[in-house]
Amino acid sequence: MNNVNDLNSVERIETNDPGRMLDALWRMPEQCEEALAIGRKTEIPSGYASVSNIVVTGLGGSAIGGDFLRLYIAEKTGVPVIVNRDYTLPAFVDSKTLVFAVSYSGNTEETLSAYAQARETGARIVALTNGGKLRRLAEDDGYPVIVVPAGISPRAATGYLLIPTLTVLEKLGLISGLDAELDELTRTLRSLREELQPKVPVEQNPAKQIATRFYGKIPVIWGAAGSTEVVAMRWKGQVNENGKAPAYWNVFPELNHNEIVGFEEPSALLGQLEIVILRDSGDHPRVQKRMEISKDIIKDVVSGITEVWSRGEGRLTRMFSLTYIGDYVSVYLATLYGIDPTPVRNIDHLKQKLAHS
Ligand code: F6R
Repeated sequence: MNNVNDLNSVERIETNDPGRMLDALWRMPEQCEEALAIGRKTEIPSGYASVSNIVVTGLGGSAIGGDFLRLYIAEKTGVPVIVNRDYTLPAFVDSKTLVFAVSYSGNTEETLSAYAQARETGARIVALTNGGKLRRLAEDDGYPVIVVPAGISPRAATGYLLIPTLTVLEKLGLISGLDAELDELTRTLRSLREELQPKVPVEQNPAKQIATRFYGKIPVIWGAAGSTEVVAMRWKGQVNENGKAPAYWNVFPELNHNEIVGFEEPSALLGQLEIVILRDSGDHPRVQKRMEISKDIIKDVVSGITEVWSRGEGRLTRMFSLTYIGDYVSVYLATLYGIDPTPVRNIDHLKQKLAHS
């Protein structure tokens, strides 16, 4: 474990990050621009037009882009989207379904299994990957393959694993105005990174402040259904994968119908919970009220409550900006724990064990 003061030492933060997770974070705006260009040059067969539904199949860092896609297009088109984090696809998938098979490594067994099933149903498949088996299979099968650059962790490749899916929807005429969205997104991320980067001291750096609050505690992240729900899950995942620490998440209004009751016992453990409420201008007004009342209910029991607001106007920018703050928080938490944020030994171990059984 490191000292909280280490967050004011750029050198300490950098030596703690040999896998250079912070470089990947810094480059996110450029990654998004690159991803737009990669997606736009992919040719989509004319037979892919007029899809009846969309499935994004992937896991972990390769699935989160699908959630963003789902939220983003919910307010733009009537085409339903689901994100499938499993070996099998839902029974509604057929030849009118657009399936994005997303795997950064291209070797995730659940995604390869879902890909094979999609192929059987005659779905319109687009593979999004850096390589591996998924790339080989999809190329051999003659599906469009969007290949994104290697060299970073899947969870640091959110731009690469999201934006090309949007360009495909643009080509299919399902969305428009992507340039303006991307312009706002990259501007907002560029301004955020100035605020969150390692050389900004704790006193002015919201990500470092939240990491300090998470340190030695159990983070609990609350978002709102239909808006920041996905971001809450992402914050939790980043605390797990980068900070190598437990974290939990839930959403309003559902948590007001169960989780909120569980703040009476055991009081010693409740005092270890550090709550973050993700706030967004798009939250339902009644949900905003619920957040206020809920804070009141738990404020004397938990270790602390922090609210973090999304930035920007467009849905994509609002979700991505909140995600970006959480990404920085998780890397600073790794600094505090003295842990390299990049390796994910337990995931690698599981994948290796499963490959041999
Ligand atoms: C690692 C990470 C994981 C992977 C997941 C699936 O950075 O974020 O959640 O994304 O194990 O692997 P890929 O993305 O290669 O299909």
